Amino acid sequence: MTRIRIVEVGPRDGLQNEPRTVPLDTKVELVERLAGAGLPAVEAGAFVSPKWVPQMADTAALLARLRRRPGVSYPVLVPNAKGLEAALAAGVEEIAVFGAASESFSQRNINCSIAESLERFRPVAAQALAAGVRVRGYVSCVLGCPYEGEVDPGRVAEVAARLIDLGCYEVSLGDTIGVGTPARARALVRRVAGAVPVERLALHFHDTWGQAVANILACLETGVTVVDSAVAGLGGCPYARGASGNVATEDVLYLLHGLGLETGVDLDSVARTGEWISAALTRPNGSKAGHAWMAR
Ligand code: HMG
Ligand code: MG
Repeated sequence: MTRIRIVEVGPRDGLQNEPRTVPLDTKVELVERLAGAGLPAVEAGAFVSPKWVPQMADTAALLARLRRRPGVSYPVLVPNAKGLEAALAAGVEEIAVFGAASESFSQRNINCSIAESLERFRPVAAQALAAGVRVRGYVSCVLGCPYEGEVDPGRVAEVAARLIDLGCYEVSLGDTIGVGTPARARALVRRVAGAVPVERLALHFHDTWGQAVANILACLETGVTVVDSAVAGLGGCPYARGASGNVATEDVLYLLHGLGLETGVDLDSVARTGEWISAALTRPNGSKAGHAWMAR
């Protein structure tokens, strides 16, 4: 049976955009509950500038408090050498560098061009790998940019291939503003799979236009087996105005389990965690499947 690996990004992609400070205790409990639900990877935070993303400023404190489960990966975002230094000091085993397929988004998100970002990632990835730390890569705006509109799929393939060349074991394709539709999403993955083996690609779809589950279903036909999602559909991107959260983990689990695909993740635990974190943040639960599961 095909197994799909879910990368839970709620504690990072979800919380980075929360307007109010989330208490450290809540963050620690969130990550631990998600790992306890069977998620093989829980993106725990980001070593980025606290001026740019204040919500991630306590990532080192979170990692110090976290009871890490063997076999679970807790990646953190790292944009530059300073971030890597902090990540290594915190004893991380995996980092993620994050680039974009759109110049304007790259400038707004990490204050440099795409080419500059890749040059910046090169020594970061090399140093991480030398320290035995795995490196994942992201490409943002793969199906559209909030500033430039359409994005060339060829550019996405090129940036993804460059990230693999830098040593990323996997590249996650971000539909940052959730504008993709199934046929376009599938065609994009096929195009990128011409440059990077499909086994090394992941889907990272935001659900702004309500298409994320449909897009994932369409993309499964390409052979991709890794999906990023966020419990309760938390989040958005601070540098993509109007972006809503990632596709909800509960919705993805309901889809995949319904298709007979294995994830190793317990929907009940994730749904309970989704209800709990939504209440803690005083926001509505963004997962339809989670809501239905709890109401059944
Ligand atoms: P910059 O201003 O160009 O950096 O920002 P700088 O090197 O000139 O440094 C300026 C100040 O930031 C200095 O402090 C540095 O020490 C500090 P000051 O002297 O002014 O007090 N600094 C740092 N502090 C802590 N950690 C660091 C760090 N680096 C510099 N690593 C920078 C460049 C990349 C740092 C900034 O633009 C930044 O932090 N951006 C992060 C943006 C971000 O986190 N965005 C959200 C995540 S991406 C996303 O959500 C998309 C994704 O989900 C996929 C998708 O959906 O598409 C992944
Ligand atoms: Mg994202």
